[in-house]
Amino acid sequence: MTQDELKQAVAKAAIEHIPADCYVGVGTGSTANYFIDELAKIKHKIRGAVASSEASAKRLRGHGIEVVTLNESGDLPVYVDGADEITRHMHMVKGGGGALTREKVVAAASKKFVCVCDASKLVDVLGKFPLPIEVIPMARSFVAREVVKLGGQPALREGFTTDNGNLILDVHGWDILNPVELETTLDHIAGIVTNGLFARRPADVLLLGTADGVKTMTA
Ligand code: 5RP
Repeated sequence: MTQDELKQAVAKAAIEHIPADCYVGVGTGSTANYFIDELAKIKHKIRGAVASSEASAKRLRGHGIEVVTLNESGDLPVYVDGADEITRHMHMVKGGGGALTREKVVAAASKKFVCVCDASKLVDVLGKFPLPIEVIPMARSFVAREVVKLGGQPALREGFTTDNGNLILDVHGWDILNPVELETTLDHIAGIVTNGLFARRPADVLLLGTADGVKTMTA
């Protein structure tokens, strides 16, 4: 199976986690896009969706799914999203698509986080995928210097602005052995809006697309 077929398979499997008559939290990225396409097939059973990016909101609306804000929906029963890396402890690196801030907010407001990934995303140690950090523009250089002090090598994501009008630093060179600790440390640096570690609020369920089928994992 190709990577795209594995992504499609997990997107399909995620539909089983969607309760009837609710607003669904929807992530961002190619796997989330496949999930949106599957969600469209059961759109008459749900009330609508809360999107973690403008791109996902556009795709949802394109399928005729109502998109509401998190302020309108209140807390959500379930959030479905991909990841750039995930461990068996359900800790993740996210933000490859630059939507990490809204993803973290929607995940925090959701009872269950269902992560949908192809098998290449499962790792023993996070950090091979550069860790995205969203920063406000005037703090870019300061945050970069603070990251260097912590042993990381930050690179500005050229020509990219987030949905919130901010910049992304992609941090290379970290073996992230304690993701909860690093997430907390980064959260205390002034100018960082969000870091792409999702460890304090990990996924609850991982649907992993493998050559042997979709595996369901929990921490
Ligand atoms: C976007 C994300 C995505 O979940 C992550 O980049 C995975 O994307 P894909 O499903 O395309 O591999 O965090 O900000």
